[in-house]
Amino acid sequence: MCGIFGYCNFLVERSRGEIIDTLVEGLQRLEYRGYDSTGIAIDGDQVDSTLVYKQIGKVSALKEEIAEQNPNREVTFASHCGIAHTRWATHGEPKQSNCHPQISDPHCDFVIVHNGIITNFRELKTLLLNKGYKFESDTDTECIAKLFKHLYDTNLQNGHELDFHELTKLVLLELEGSYGLLCRSSHYPDEVIATRKGSPLLIGVKSDKKLKVDFVDVEFPDDDSKPETPLGYNKVNGGLKNLNGGTVNGRKMRPYEQNGGQNNLLPIAANEFNLRHSQSRAFLSEDGTPNPVEFFLSSDASSVVKHTKKVLFLEDNDIAHIYDGEIHIHRSRREVGASMTRSIQTLEMELAQIMKGPYTHFMQKEIFEQPESTFNTMRGRTDFENNSIMLGGLKAWLPAIRRARRLIMVACGTSYHSCLATRSIFEELSEIPVCVELASDFLDRLSPVFRDDICVFVSQSGETADTMLALTYCLERGALTVGIVNSVGSSISRVTHCGVHINAGPEIGVASTKAYTSQYIALVMFALSLSDDRVSKLERRKEIIQGLKLIPEQIKEVLQLEDKIKYLCENDLKDQKSLLLLGRGYQFASALEGALKIKEISYMHSEGVLAGELKHGVLALVDENLPIIAFGTRDSLFPKVVSSIEQVTARKGHPIIICNKNDEVWENKAKSINMQTLEVPQTVDCLQGLLNIIPLQLISYWLAVNKGIDVDFPRNLAKSVTVE
Ligand code: F6R
Repeated sequence: MCGIFGYCNFLVERSRGEIIDTLVEGLQRLEYRGYDSTGIAIDGDQVDSTLVYKQIGKVSALKEEIAEQNPNREVTFASHCGIAHTRWATHGEPKQSNCHPQISDPHCDFVIVHNGIITNFRELKTLLLNKGYKFESDTDTECIAKLFKHLYDTNLQNGHELDFHELTKLVLLELEGSYGLLCRSSHYPDEVIATRKGSPLLIGVKSDKKLKVDFVDVEFPDDDSKPETPLGYNKVNGGLKNLNGGTVNGRKMRPYEQNGGQNNLLPIAANEFNLRHSQSRAFLSEDGTPNPVEFFLSSDASSVVKHTKKVLFLEDNDIAHIYDGEIHIHRSRREVGASMTRSIQTLEMELAQIMKGPYTHFMQKEIFEQPESTFNTMRGRTDFENNSIMLGGLKAWLPAIRRARRLIMVACGTSYHSCLATRSIFEELSEIPVCVELASDFLDRLSPVFRDDICVFVSQSGETADTMLALTYCLERGALTVGIVNSVGSSISRVTHCGVHINAGPEIGVASTKAYTSQYIALVMFALSLSDDRVSKLERRKEIIQGLKLIPEQIKEVLQLEDKIKYLCENDLKDQKSLLLLGRGYQFASALEGALKIKEISYMHSEGVLAGELKHGVLALVDENLPIIAFGTRDSLFPKVVSSIEQVTARKGHPIIICNKNDEVWENKAKSINMQTLEVPQTVDCLQGLLNIIPLQLISYWLAVNKGIDVDFPRNLAKSVTVE
């Protein structure tokens, strides 16, 4: 889980300085994907020479390093390919030699940036070591660079001068695991290869002239036979399969809904061009002359949107070969049902959406965006007049989903908590048993999945490796799969049969905040859709839909607690070692999610505890010193929660209670016991968690700020976890 970025210009004069700045800025926007080391590779002063700059730490450190090395920024290039990387270490600690780009040899015959994990790198390394290659790093990526060189040299010796993409095919045959990678080479000047399997990769296309988008060759191998490679080690990987749309287990993959209603907020507006299986003259202008064009290759659209909104999302096993201002797409292997067209789509994402604005951190911005983001999740899909919900991406599938024997929700981290938070209302409304699974555990157990199961995959990024692998696992077992995803064009949104985009907008802060509340709402809307044919649920549905209507305004009200929370963090919580969060029923998920936020952002140990379990062990921790936050808002379990909190106060604990406004029970208790309250508006029981989580998001934020932690870049974490 790293960020990769590439820039290629063709017939557009750019100075080296401009190229460096474009690469560095692209990396800055990808820093949330990993930020322990960075690097770039660009053309040197001699023909076919390469300059590589690397630095430990964040992109700002790389910028300083390049300035210190002082390359000539004035040299201009009419055609150039530069590649860049920001890393989250998987193999090898963050040190200079482990930074990407990784090179094949000192002359930089092949230079690679890579996101993902090559699982058979030890075997490959041993083979290459035996053939005399010397390794400088502990990374898996270095193997790829050396493999490129080895296969290039051996083929040349045997009289085969391979095209760059042909060589890439041979290399990919040797790799197991996941990758999004860019490769440049001194043997193929001004050309770049972009290929992916299990890691996201897209290409932004920018040209001032109108493009005559004819056809790009999506070329499939003639047969499935594996060519013998000179390495003598040939194993087509068994990793993620069937990820490129088409047909899986006989069931036609459906695209996501393209329109959430009249105010469509999905970033992708329309398919503008189709790149089809045919001859490739894609980026010539209409009069057939070469078109000046720039390409921006990236792990994430947020880093290309400043330059262009026209993007092409690569699919797994695509090899994009860029040269002479054209993109040629080849397939690394033949697959039944693989799609033969690649569309250039127009992003609706605005740069402003991914800037911090008046906020100090993205996390703070995203917390404060929740009145708007929750509204956007519902926009065009909820008819508050008629109490009805319309989820376009699910509509055709609802009858099949209603017939299900059970529904399995699969996710990781915060997304998992959104499933826990809504499980009960799902079961109540749909009357279908619901299991909630952590993706990694679900796979570890090889949990049984049947054809009549509905498997729901919830993910902000849509790229989380564990969730993605669980999705592949369920597809292979014939289950119908549903995605609840924020990132449009992400793997999970493309591979599931149907789904809902939560439309929360780009989430950049590593700690998930607005995605949680939007996932929560999307899941509630899903449950409401499933029950819209049940008369017995009419009143309950009406109550919930009317509750949803008020949520954005109520979140605004809760956000006004910020000053009180800031004070609480500075004075009562900052120096504590540990924090317990107590919740029950709907609020157990709030306790778990609140504890996760505090841990990941403020590094304070915290634990979400089911209030009913308190007396079965956890009570031993309680004394007058341990800070405790308890969810004491009103629902059917309120008396039991009160009794749990009394167990705490009886042991001299001083809990902070998240409660509804003017609740007499807590007002009276506060008169006799030393405790504080954070008051939130009341809503329907199953929606209360949407309001209750906001104070916890703010607490984690202010605890971290007080401790001087870089909130958007907590240590050891990355936004998108594309490794197992
Ligand atoms: C916590 C957090 C993570 C993610 C988890 C799943 O704040 O962000 O726990 O929720 O890594 O990521 P997605 O939702 O992208 O699948």
